[in-house]
Amino acid sequence: MDNKKKKILILGASGFIGNALYKELCNYFDTYGTYCTNPLYRENKKFFKYDIQEDDIFKILDATQPNYIISALRGDFTSQVQAHLHLMEYLLKSKCKLYFISSANVFDAYSKYPSYENDKTLSESIYGRLKIRIENMMMRMPKTKVGILRVPMVFGNTSPRIKEIKALLDLNEPIEVFPNLIINVTNDDRLTQQIHYLINQDKYGIFHLGSTDLIHHQDFIKEVIHRLGNYDSILKKVYTTNEDRYLAVLPKDNKLPKNLSITSQEIIDHHLTVD
Ligand SMILES: NC(=O)c1ccc[n+]([C@@H]2O[C@H](COP(=O)([O-])OP(=O)(O)OC[C@H]3O[C@@H](n4cnc5c(N)ncnc54)[C@H](OP(=O)(O)O)[C@@H]3O)[C@@H](O)[C@H]2O)c1
Repeated sequence: MDNKKKKILILGASGFIGNALYKELCNYFDTYGTYCTNPLYRENKKFFKYDIQEDDIFKILDATQPNYIISALRGDFTSQVQAHLHLMEYLLKSKCKLYFISSANVFDAYSKYPSYENDKTLSESIYGRLKIRIENMMMRMPKTKVGILRVPMVFGNTSPRIKEIKALLDLNEPIEVFPNLIINVTNDDRLTQQIHYLINQDKYGIFHLGSTDLIHHQDFIKEVIHRLGNYDSILKKVYTTNEDRYLAVLPKDNKLPKNLSITSQEIIDHHLTVD
C-alpha cells in the first residue's frame, strides 16, 4: 500500500511518546491521534477527544479506520484493560495491526540478568502486571496482527524525566538515583524512528527498543547532569537491594538495523541540549 494512504491512529498522541510519534509519522502517513485533557488539540481535526474511562474506542476506530494503531496511553488500569480488549475485537474484524508500547517493567521481578524478547515475563509492580496482562491478550491474537514494543526509561529534551531533573537542579533539590540498578535507556527521537521503521516494514512480534549497552542508573543520571550544566547537584541514593539489579531489555531474536541502534552515551552527547 502507498504510504500516504496508510492510516495510523495513535492513542495518547498528546503525551510525550505519542506526540513524538505523531511528529515523526504525520508527514509520511495519514496520521490521527487522541488526546484526553490537553487543550492544545481541541481544534485539531486530526485529533479526537478520548477519555479511556468514558468514551467508546469503537467510535474513533470507525471514524478513522486505521491500518495501524499505536497504543501510547496512560490512565486508569481497569479501563486500559477494557479498552485493549475492544482493540483486540477490532483487530479480528479489520485489516489493522496494533503496536503496544510496553515496558521493561514486565521483567521487574527478575534481577540477575537483562531480559530478551522470548524470556518469560514476571513483575512485582502493578504497572508491570498491567503491561503483562495486555501483552498476554495480544499474544492470543493472530501473530501478524500485533507488535509488542518493550521500552526502557525514555529520556529526551522534552521528556518528563529530563524536565524533572532540570527543575530539581534549578531548585537545588536532591535527585533520586538507584546505585544498584543497571538499565538500558532510550530517547524519543530514536524510539520513534524505530517505530517508523517497524511500520514501513510491516513488522510484527516482540521488540526490545533500548540502547545496546547497559549502564548504572546513577552513572547515567550523573552524565545527564554533567551535560546539562555545571551544577552542584545533590544525589539522593535509593538502595532497593544489596546486590546489583538489572532492569534492561535487549534484543536477540528481533534485531533492528544497526543504523537504528543507539547507545546511552549517544543519548547524552548528541541529543540532550542545554537551554
Ligand atoms: N516515558 C517513559 O519513560 C516510558 C517508558 C516505557 C513505557 N512507557 C509507556 O509509554 C506510554 C506513553 O507514556 P508517556 O510517558 O508518553 O506518557 P504521558 O506523557 O503521560 O502521555 C499519556 C497519554 O495518555 C493520555 N491519557 C492519560 N489519561 C488518559 C485517560 N484517562 N483516557 C485517555 N487518555 C489518557 C494523555 O492524554 P492528555 O495528556 O491529553 O490528558 C497522553 O496523551 C505509556 O503506556 C507508558 O507506560 C513510557
